[in-house]
Amino acid sequence: MHCTPTTCLRSPRIDVAFFHMTTRPLQFLRRGQPVALGNVPPDRTLLQVLREDLGCTGTKEGCGEGDCGACTVVPGEARDGKVHYSAVNSCIRLAHSIDGMALWTVEDLSEDPLIQPVGNNPPALHQTTHLHPAQEAMVQCHGSQCGFCTPGFVMSLFGMYQNHVCCGQPITRALAQEELSGNLCRCTGYRPILDAAQHMATLPAVAVNEPQLLQKLELLALYSKGLEANSSYISPATLPALLAARAAHPHAQVVAGCTDVGLWVTKLHKQYAQILDVTRVTALRTVDATPQHIR
Ligand SMILES: Cc1cc2nc3c(=O)[nH]c(=O)nc-3n(C[C@H](O)[C@H](O)[C@H](O)COP(=O)(O)OP(=O)(O)OC[C@H]3O[C@@H](n4cnc5c(N)ncnc54)[C@H](O)[C@@H]3O)c2cc1C
Ligand code: FES
Ligand code: FES
Repeated sequence: MHCTPTTCLRSPRIDVAFFHMTTRPLQFLRRGQPVALGNVPPDRTLLQVLREDLGCTGTKEGCGEGDCGACTVVPGEARDGKVHYSAVNSCIRLAHSIDGMALWTVEDLSEDPLIQPVGNNPPALHQTTHLHPAQEAMVQCHGSQCGFCTPGFVMSLFGMYQNHVCCGQPITRALAQEELSGNLCRCTGYRPILDAAQHMATLPAVAVNEPQLLQKLELLALYSKGLEANSSYISPATLPALLAARAAHPHAQVVAGCTDVGLWVTKLHKQYAQILDVTRVTALRTVDATPQHIR
């Protein structure tokens, strides 16, 4: 259910603050199509939006605190003329943080027209049709028993597929272990899942059509420029803009990776009427190591 003036269950104090601010529609690309959602509160998690607002229950909630990986989804962000894919825990990721990005959940992999065969690759005879290699490999390697963890594993595999297989890099056992370290499985055991990670590279290749995706993301960004600025979820792109936003909104909750703040929302049930997200500030995306400091 979306939070609206008549249905909002938040405290009156927070309602007053909330409705004096502009919460711009949250916009992202899914299956190559723009999705626009109105009235998404700044502290709503991406998992809540997916499961409760969009009814996409393929993405699971296990721990709700970033430990188990059942809620893993993959945002794709356009940066420096490329798409950057990362497997993230949607349970502690704030929904507005993916504004302007592409998003894949486990329900999208076999439905996205932008995921296309590479070269003249017909599906192999033994291959279940329409499944992404990440899914097909899990089937062929028997990587799922009860299945609760499977959507999360599949999405971590999808991120690995785009970041490594599509770049011509091999999936070693060590890489698979590292990249799946955020996903827990209670019943299958990890050997078949690690086998699947390595096996997916041997299946007929597919890839996200990045030129098309980048074009669509550019259009989405152009459209967003015409909208009123989002004053309840502020996400500056430069350091001066961030400092100005901080000065103007000293009480806004600052978030970066949201791996602490996300838990304050999901476990402590804290509510935030205004968020200041620092993750798009280019100057804060670097790690500088000097003999004295890591900054
Ligand atoms: C599964 C899991 C395992 C973890 N394991 C460990 C562990 O083993 N050891 C450990 O120490 N921690 C652990 N943590 C905690 C984790 O290290 C911290 O949550 C993380 O370092 C916080 O970084 P963040 O970018 O996600 O911060 P956020 O959650 O975004 O913010 C945390 C705090 O920092 C403030 N903040 C963020 N960026 C800035 C900024 N640029 N300027 C000023 N203030 C800012 C925020 O306002 C907030 O008060 C774990 C967390 C999870 C989810
Ligand atoms: S539900 Fe466990 S990490 Fe998100
Ligand atoms: S298959 Fe049951 S938790 Fe992984």
